[in-house]
Amino acid sequence: PAPLAIVSAMQEELGALLALMPDGRRVRAAGRDFWCGHLHGQPVVAVLSRIGKVAAATTATVLAERFGVRAIVFTGVAGGLAPGVAVGDVVVAAGLLQHDLDASPIFPKYEVPLLGRARFDADGAIADALAGAAHALLREPAALLGAQAVAAFGLHAPRVHRGLVVSGDRFVSTAAESAALRHALPDALAVEMEGAAVAQVCHDYGLPFAAVRTISDRADDAAHADFTRFVAAVASRYSAGIAAAWLRS
Ligand code: ADE
Repeated sequence: PAPLAIVSAMQEELGALLALMPDGRRVRAAGRDFWCGHLHGQPVVAVLSRIGKVAAATTATVLAERFGVRAIVFTGVAGGLAPGVAVGDVVVAAGLLQHDLDASPIFPKYEVPLLGRARFDADGAIADALAGAAHALLREPAALLGAQAVAAFGLHAPRVHRGLVVSGDRFVSTAAESAALRHALPDALAVEMEGAAVAQVCHDYGLPFAAVRTISDRADDAAHADFTRFVAAVASRYSAGIAAAWLRS
């Protein structure tokens, strides 16, 4: 069967998953390392896209053209936007849009010009399976993350959310900017820098796409410090745990 692709932006988000793929064979393309191997018996290509929409789109295009993947799943961290979306929670994307795309008044704000849409839906079946995997893992956060991390980050009852994720080429790191995003896009749960770009490429290729993001910060004045701490300590365990539980299911 054609492989599944698992993509993260940063090493800190994918490292623990790569460790679960000891048979991974490295293929260099477009300046990136694509790791081709197996996870729970399923053929997988795992790759670091690097950060931002263009880096993510290049990576997705190579996965479609050169590796013939059957679906792409993006995993990593995001900033929480909606009121109940806390550090340590997991957001499974139902749909994605680019919050920094605005060709108005020629096209409606956020709409991808000439594609006639702003929002790209995630694959429902994969999103269901990712949410199920996240729910199962977060019932016992200490088993996934370690007691020390649970205490340090106050991750006692992390929640799984499902809804809109927005992407843009900005690390949102002020309360004013996240408030503006909340006002402009009231149903947005979380903000990151890659998902909607991969979703657009997958739309063009007719490939199923899904994204699961752990909240590392609240996209506010403390975002930079929170993000750095969270990414170093636990992000990779979330990604690997959720992806592995998903592929087992
Ligand atoms: N990824 C994680 N936190 C983020 C933030 N605050 N803005 C954009 N991308 C992020």
